[in-house]
Amino acid sequence: MLVDSFHRNHDYLRISITDKCNLRCLYCMPLDLPESFLATRSMMNVDEIISIAKVFVDLGVTKIRLTGGEPLVRKEVREIISRLSKFPIQLALTTNAVLVDEFIDLFVETGLRSVNVSLDSLDATTFEILSQRKHFSKVVDNIQLLLDRGFHVKLNMVVLKDVNHLEIPAFIKMTKNANLHVRFIEFMPFTGNGWDHQQVFSSEEILSLVEEHFEFEKLNDRPNDTARNFKVKNHTGTFAIISTMTDPFCDTCNRLRLTSDGKMKNCLFSKGEADILAALRNGEDLVPIIQQCVWQKKAARGGQMMGHLANISAETIENRSMISIGG
Ligand code: GTP
Ligand code: 5AD
Ligand code: SF4
Repeated sequence: MLVDSFHRNHDYLRISITDKCNLRCLYCMPLDLPESFLATRSMMNVDEIISIAKVFVDLGVTKIRLTGGEPLVRKEVREIISRLSKFPIQLALTTNAVLVDEFIDLFVETGLRSVNVSLDSLDATTFEILSQRKHFSKVVDNIQLLLDRGFHVKLNMVVLKDVNHLEIPAFIKMTKNANLHVRFIEFMPFTGNGWDHQQVFSSEEILSLVEEHFEFEKLNDRPNDTARNFKVKNHTGTFAIISTMTDPFCDTCNRLRLTSDGKMKNCLFSKGEADILAALRNGEDLVPIIQQCVWQKKAARGGQMMGHLANISAETIENRSMISIGG
C-alpha cells in the first residue's frame, strides 16, 4: 500500500509517455516550446515504463492512465498499451482524439475502455485558435466513433472566461441523447501558460450559468473523484466540474504521477520529484524511493497556491509545464 502522512492511500498512477503533442493548446504549452521537448535518451524506454509500472502495481496501484503531451503520438504506444494491459489494473487514456481512429481496434483488443477526450470548443474557429491546428472535424468524428463503439467517454473542457465559457450549455446539450460525460475544468496555472486569475470561470459561475438553462440534480461522487457530478433531468449523459482552483478535492486524492523522463510527482502541483528512472538505471531498489515520495506528499496542491486566487501567479509556482506533466 502507498499511504501518505495524511492516511491517503494511492492506487492510481498517471504515466506520461511523451511530452510531445500534435496540438498547440495555448493554455497548456509554454511559449518556448517546441525547443524544449525532451531528448529521447532522457525518456523512459518501453521496457523501463513496464518495469517501473510493475513496481507500482506490486505496491497496490490498480489503475493506470496514460497521458502525454498526446500519448498516441509516442511511436511505441501500441506496445506500451498491449504490455500494460496484461497487468491486473484498469487501463485508461487521456487524449485529444486526433488519432483515435487509428488506435480504436487496439483499445478494444486490449480492454482499454475508459477514454477521456479534451475538447474546448464546439466551434471550429475557436478550436483552431485555441489549439493552433485544424483538427476540429477529426476530433468530433473520433468522439462519435468512441461513443458508437461503446466506450466510456469523458469530455474535458477547460473553461476560459470570455473565450469559451458561453459554450457550456451547448456542451451540456450533447449529453441529452449520448452516454457522454462532460467535465468543465477550472483553468489552472502552470509554468509558462500565461495563467491569470481573471480567466478562471469558477465552479460557482459554471453552476449559475447552467441553472439559467437547465434543471439538474447532484449525483453521488465516487470516493476519489476529482469531479463533482451532476445530471440534467432526462439526459442520458452527465456533466461535472473539476474545481481545483476554487474548491480543491485533495483530502481524498489517490493519484501519483510519472513523467515521460521517469520522474515521480506525488501531486499535480508538487515542487519536488523523485528520479525513478535514474534509480532504475543504477540498479537501485525503487520501493523505498517511491514510498518516501508518497510520504512527502503535502496536504493540498503540492503545498503551493495558498491564499486568494488573485494573489497566485503562474510564474511563482515551482512546477513543470502542463504538457510535460500530462494533467
Ligand atoms: P478519471 O478520474 O480517471 O476519469 O480521470 P481524470 O479526470 O483524473 O483525468 P483527466 O486526464 O481526464 O484529467 C481531467 C482534468 O483533471 C485535468 O485538467 C487534470 O489536470 C485534472 N486532474 C487530474 N488529476 C488531478 C489531480 O490529481 N489533481 C488535480 N488538482 N487535478 C487533476
Ligand atoms: N488547466 C486545466 N486543465 C488543463 N488541461 C491542460 N492544461 C490545463 C490547465 N492549465 C487539461 C487538458 C486535458 C487534461 C489532461 O488536462 O484539457 O484534458
Ligand atoms: Fe491530489 Fe495534488 Fe490534485 Fe490535490 S492538487 S487532488 S493533492 S494531485
